[in-house]
Amino acid sequence: MTTTETLAQRAETLLATMTLEEKAGQLSQYFYFAAFPAQNALVEAEVRAGRAGSLLFVNDPRETNRLQRLAVEESRLGIPLLFGFDVIHGLRTIFPVPLGLAASWDPELAERVQATAAREARAVGIHWAFAPMVDIARDPRWGRIVEGAGEDPYLGAHMAAAQVRGFQGATLGAADRVVAGPKHYIGYGAALGGRDYDEVSLSEGALRNVYLPPFAAAVAAGAGNIMTSYVGIDGVPGAADRRLIADVLRGELGFDGFVVSDANSVVDLVTHGFARDDRDAAARAINAGLDMEMALGMEMPRDDPHPDAPVPTARAAAFATLPDAVRAGAVHEGLLDAAVRRVLRLKLRLGLFERPYVDEAQAHAILNDPGHREVARVAAERSAVLLCNEGAVLPLDRTAVRSVAVLGPLADDRVATLGPWVFAEDQAATVTILEGLRRVAGDGVRIAHAPGVPLPERLYPSPFAMLGLGSVPPAAPFDEGAEFARAVDLARASDIAVLVLGEAADMNGEAASRATLDLPGRQLELLEAVAATGTPVVLVLLSGRPLDLRRAAQLSAAILAAWHPGTEGGLAVARLLFGEVAPGGKLPISWPRSVGQVPLIYAHLRSHQPQTAARRYWEEESTPLYPFGFGLSYGAVEYSALTLSATAPKLNDAVEVTVEVRNTSARAVEEVAQLYLHQRYGRAARPVRELTAFQRVTLDPGETRTLRFEIPAAARRYWSAADGAYVLDAAPFDVWVGGAATAELHAEFTVQDGAGAPTAAGHAG
Ligand code: NOJ
Repeated sequence: MTTTETLAQRAETLLATMTLEEKAGQLSQYFYFAAFPAQNALVEAEVRAGRAGSLLFVNDPRETNRLQRLAVEESRLGIPLLFGFDVIHGLRTIFPVPLGLAASWDPELAERVQATAAREARAVGIHWAFAPMVDIARDPRWGRIVEGAGEDPYLGAHMAAAQVRGFQGATLGAADRVVAGPKHYIGYGAALGGRDYDEVSLSEGALRNVYLPPFAAAVAAGAGNIMTSYVGIDGVPGAADRRLIADVLRGELGFDGFVVSDANSVVDLVTHGFARDDRDAAARAINAGLDMEMALGMEMPRDDPHPDAPVPTARAAAFATLPDAVRAGAVHEGLLDAAVRRVLRLKLRLGLFERPYVDEAQAHAILNDPGHREVARVAAERSAVLLCNEGAVLPLDRTAVRSVAVLGPLADDRVATLGPWVFAEDQAATVTILEGLRRVAGDGVRIAHAPGVPLPERLYPSPFAMLGLGSVPPAAPFDEGAEFARAVDLARASDIAVLVLGEAADMNGEAASRATLDLPGRQLELLEAVAATGTPVVLVLLSGRPLDLRRAAQLSAAILAAWHPGTEGGLAVARLLFGEVAPGGKLPISWPRSVGQVPLIYAHLRSHQPQTAARRYWEEESTPLYPFGFGLSYGAVEYSALTLSATAPKLNDAVEVTVEVRNTSARAVEEVAQLYLHQRYGRAARPVRELTAFQRVTLDPGETRTLRFEIPAAARRYWSAADGAYVLDAAPFDVWVGGAATAELHAEFTVQDGAGAPTAAGHAG
């Protein structure tokens, strides 16, 4: 076996033979978009010349092998390429979008999902996933909220670590796994107005108490890479923020992997009005601690008269100027060497020098492994959140429900079932909700379908469509008047109407922010008309964010938020609706009533007049429609007997918590027990409550379970703006345990300082 030492030696030997151009090349990553011949020619030439160390966006094993051959067989040193890709929620087999996966509150599941995705990716020659996205997202207008774990740092940290473990396995370089690249460091989710790429202003307290924990967890789990953010905090772009990369990420968190920029964001340092030119940009990025530039390899014309069909010109990475910068003394060669060393060691650890190519036949078999679809189905089932279920309309009872009208523009939409960030899927093998219901309902239940209304187009097209990425079938001709009437007639003639409404895949993700949270187009109108028939409505929502459901909730007997559930999504939803499996997902975000409330979070500060917290607007409640952590199952649970191991722990003591949870119903129940903590006073005021532990359990009818949680002292540690430091306070704490952030079962303890008195004192060690 190759030891770390021999790997290090091999890297040194190689490094000693490299020219400055070859070193800069190892730090240059290029997109390779099949659609742009000029860019492809540039990239291939750079690979042959040893001036490109990594490529992204290639996912066909024949292509990864062909391009790898250029590096291994035609470049002077034969250093293999590292292939990266956006393996966000699957490659061929598509899993629920990450926000959905977070709604499972099941880190083990998230680990299994990403291990499966990694297996498919590695089989086609991808070594590195640009995932998980661990940005805290508190503004659902931001399109990329779909890619993360929602608003909470604790849940976010657990999902981050689990996904890193899933992608990478026990050690970096494990067989069938890939390097994880948590992103976007840091604060991207806080873009002003939820507008993608807009500026960010973040206090040190918010940065450290809210945005940093998922990155810290991902680093602690061994992430091999971190991607910086497009945006910058307070005018310092992420790709060149020395304090955040060198001091915080490497220094404080101990990150020892390599840091990559987001796409084009070194060149963008000039666009931001931060760097003078490419050379200044490259020098300032590498001096800040960035190791690799992700370069587009082309430039879009700025004032293209035909924005739908831009013709780009080829363009080298800004890092191609690094040799000159070294020669001019603007960059120390040792810095370049350190970055190259990280990249070479990784390539060696991955075994790329020994096994640069993949087996194309085996890749085909792995991509079509039925076991992967099984993981996708379970993940979709566990991600769905039941938001309401009046009169227990769900689960559907086959003896009473003889006919189901499956309506809405998304009922049979494969692309929306899969969601955004999907490029190598098998669209034909995707199970829509309609298809799933047909399979699961059984012969005794008649299923009829009508889309009712079309989904509107985006006002501004998605950049992915402009790059020819993602395959959206052309819209079929649609007679709106007739289809609307047909859908309503079908509802009238059926026992139940299942309406599948929400967002198209390209309505969320990157560059997909929204100014409203409405159901796009005429979907609400359709829901109104269907509900007016008197047939009970089950609303299945496909979306990448919470939508404004105030009216929809009045019109629907049940609402199931299924997110974009993936390849087996339709089967999962159908099994949930017919009760073959119990829903148990919980919201990873506070679900606002209206767009005017956002950002709306459960872990807010008490601030002034907390008694008016629910009525801070004069025309609408300021509480969410559905709270963070909320989700129903088909039965009911009761919490009791909350006990603490200590009521007067010392500053560094943990507190053990036990609670009994009982299934009071005659059905098996899925529940996520959640523990929230609140510090009553301290050196800085703390949020009204914060998630501190959780556990997902299945309870048989009537079953009672005793659950144990631990509140480690570290859970009470926070960044105090008053001190400019992490602190632990001796103070009274409230504990709540229950099935949502509104949990009421309560206990308390008071942390003692050295002398035993509760005072705000004592720095964390
Ligand atoms: C830009 C996105 O911000 C990032 O998340 C993604 O990984 C890269 N492009 C590569 O596609």
